Amino acid sequence: MAHPTSSNIFVPSKAWWKSAVVYQIYPISFFDSNGDGLGDLNGIYAKLDYLKQLGIDVLWLSPIYQSPLADMGYDISDYCQIDPRYGTLEDWDRLLAGVHQRGMKLIMDLVANHTSDEHKWFAESRASKDSPKRDWYVWRPAKYDSEGNRLPPNNWKSAFQGSAWEYDESTQEYYLHLFASKQPDLNWDNPDVRKAIWETMRFWLDRGCDGFRMDVINHISKVEGLPDAPIIYPEYPYQPGTLHFINGPRVHEYLKEMNQQVLSHYDIMTVGETPASHDPDELAEYVLPENKELQMVFQFELTQIDALRDASGDIEHLIHRPWKLTEFKSIVEKWQVYGRDKGYWNALYLENHDNPRSVSRFGNDSPQWRSASAKLLAILQVTQSGTLFVYQGEEIGMKNIPRTWDLSEYKDIASINLYQENLEVRQRIFGTEEVDMSDILYALQRKARDHSRTPMQWDSSSHSGFTTGTPWMRVNDDFSEQWNVADETKDADSVLTFWKECLEIRKQYDVLIYGDFFSLLPEHPKLFLYTRTLGSQFALVLMNFSTETISLPRGVSETNGMKLVLHNYPTLDDPTTLRGYEGRVYIEIDTDAE
Ligand code: GLC
Ligand code: CA
Repeated sequence: MAHPTSSNIFVPSKAWWKSAVVYQIYPISFFDSNGDGLGDLNGIYAKLDYLKQLGIDVLWLSPIYQSPLADMGYDISDYCQIDPRYGTLEDWDRLLAGVHQRGMKLIMDLVANHTSDEHKWFAESRASKDSPKRDWYVWRPAKYDSEGNRLPPNNWKSAFQGSAWEYDESTQEYYLHLFASKQPDLNWDNPDVRKAIWETMRFWLDRGCDGFRMDVINHISKVEGLPDAPIIYPEYPYQPGTLHFINGPRVHEYLKEMNQQVLSHYDIMTVGETPASHDPDELAEYVLPENKELQMVFQFELTQIDALRDASGDIEHLIHRPWKLTEFKSIVEKWQVYGRDKGYWNALYLENHDNPRSVSRFGNDSPQWRSASAKLLAILQVTQSGTLFVYQGEEIGMKNIPRTWDLSEYKDIASINLYQENLEVRQRIFGTEEVDMSDILYALQRKARDHSRTPMQWDSSSHSGFTTGTPWMRVNDDFSEQWNVADETKDADSVLTFWKECLEIRKQYDVLIYGDFFSLLPEHPKLFLYTRTLGSQFALVLMNFSTETISLPRGVSETNGMKLVLHNYPTLDDPTTLRGYEGRVYIEIDTDAE
């Protein structure tokens, strides 16, 4: 097909962290080395060769610090200790050495918007109103209504339901927690808090860690005065307050300080997590090189495509909304073309520990289509510009937990609280115990974070070879039916074998990482077609997101002279069509242009 003109195409500068493939490990569910049912650091160490052979360059570990695990480690009680369930600092050093020996890197999860309520800083802060650390957290006096009932200082809702404030009996004030009550928010306006965070960052960097993923980093600065949020849900007492703390007034000041004090002194990777913000100009502030803050952020627009939006624009992540491929394509395109000339760089992901499995969500996990559609999603990801993040189990096509599983198999605080709060509100409104909860179950079966947290499926032995003991969370039922690493490694046609091939091809052709993106037929409801161009390299990506066989328009099907480098079907019968979930990637190198 004819190449688009390449006259004014901008070529991004190259960097190791841009071409790297990152693999996210959710440690508790990765591999258990000592039979206690919980994944651990030595378990990760045991699988380093597997990860290297897969084509991974960087490992990102979800939190492994000391924690009561109220939010699975995103509630840290000591930033400089490993939770004994995961191992010791010596185990971490050995893991890092093993990673480095294999030419890979290791990044840690920096969870600094909040700590655990069991952190010693919070214990001191809570001890008295005069504590030197009182101001390290966000304490406020109660409000009272006209009848003298005690109320929280404002009406903000926590991300995990209920008020974002918890009353502390002993000092008779409330503290702010945007997440669970066991996750009090740090007060970043206090310079001592920032200094303490810089210290903990240096602790890990000086030990050899290669960077950070930064948890909810766009939440750290709250609007002065902590005003009430607009009332969106009149039936609930608490309202989404995102307006007052997403991309808050001083967030960029603090990240510039972080960069100057810490990040700029090391050659590392940094990626911020930035929920509830889909405006590229706002997110670009965090990552444009001239701003000297972070390298990239995880935008949530794509992974919230199927989430309910309320009247305020706030997003109910767990409530399912149907989506269309045309919307999906326009979101991909928006971020692929955004700000390239200014140096904006994407972080690409379809899965992580907060989202359901991509094959169940954006593909088709029925027996007939699961393998083809999981491979199609691999093609989609390895042919986009940005740093690629693969989540554990995605590479073997792991799917959501079966809909037949009982609610008691769901372990996540977000799932449990969503169910509980809705149950209580309904019981109160309808004045009966027997209320219909089917919509909430429907939501959890599609959207719960639990789907991505089941143990990794290593082989077909009991509990998928994840543990010799009793796993902390039930293993998905399909592990013995070939959906495991051991069986897929032997199978030339498996999702795992295909992912390996995809990662090799991505490394071979820079156009896939750095090239310019151009969408073809953006209005087509089933096909997703685009080209990538970088100097003399040209790529054509053809994907069918439906079960039907579809003819390609003329022009697009003319691939003479181009090399078919990726294909998720074993044969190419008719180059002018795409069968159900078929995907093909062609490359052409224009030798004249070289
Ligand atoms: C981030 C994490 C999520 C956690 C929340 C609070 O969104 O990815 O798992 O619950 O922050 O720390
Ligand atoms: Ca263990």
